[in-house]
Amino acid sequence: MSSAAPLGIFDSGVGGLSVLREVRLALPHEDILYLADTAHVPYGARPDEDIRDLTDRAVTALHERGVKAVVNACNTSSAFSLSHLRARFQMPIIGLVPAVKPAVKATRSGKVGVLATPGTLRGTLLADVVAQHAAPAGVEVLRAVSTELVPLVEAGRHDSPEVRRVLRDALTPLAEAGVDQLVLGCTHYPFLAGSIRAEFGDTFTLVDSGAAVARHTRRVLEEAGLLSDRTEPGRVTYLVTGDPEAARPVIATLTRENGHSGRDTTGAA
Ligand code: SIN
Repeated sequence: MSSAAPLGIFDSGVGGLSVLREVRLALPHEDILYLADTAHVPYGARPDEDIRDLTDRAVTALHERGVKAVVNACNTSSAFSLSHLRARFQMPIIGLVPAVKPAVKATRSGKVGVLATPGTLRGTLLADVVAQHAAPAGVEVLRAVSTELVPLVEAGRHDSPEVRRVLRDALTPLAEAGVDQLVLGCTHYPFLAGSIRAEFGDTFTLVDSGAAVARHTRRVLEEAGLLSDRTEPGRVTYLVTGDPEAARPVIATLTRENGHSGRDTTGAA
């Protein structure tokens, strides 16, 4: 595997762009192939087996395009696929785990919330981090589920009255229970930060895994001798399994919100 090969980033859709933002900051010289499985998003309410199969297909597509490693920037997919992917592919596979650990360290009320899809909430990765970090510290973890938020972000409606209504329904019980740290357990949710703050003010500190995953990805590439040695900025290519025309404006908007310009390309996977 060559260090000049691109890094793959995979998500069920556009949510992984919140992870891409951090990866580009940590690894500015890497070329990146971002694959969004827009034909099958959302993954959140699918059966475990479907999530594993769809992830396998997406990571195989990235592998066939010669990526040197894959960041699985989808919490739902990571919850069911990481061990399978690591057994199947020779390249490094980096996954996402809800950021319960930093939230437990920061809480003053002793109550941490996790907002995630049904898949992430029932997966063992979340149960493991709760058992490892929250339970020993005596911190209570309150879960909030949503199946509506991901499709709204995918439709470019991350800042809309519908999003605010869904957030009110999902998060009011957590606010009333005294949660002060809210773990965004889905990579689509950092794009909802403005709407969460508009509804709940500073009730919650929002915690996500993007920056930690980006640092971890850098370490993994370094240790494997796979860091790009180029000095010019890397390029990002976006691949979608659904209609590229439909995905293009949403990717452009979220990429702009990430602080990047649109000199990159979007095409069919
Ligand atoms: C989804 O596709 O429903 C969720 C994506 C995620 O969990 O990050």
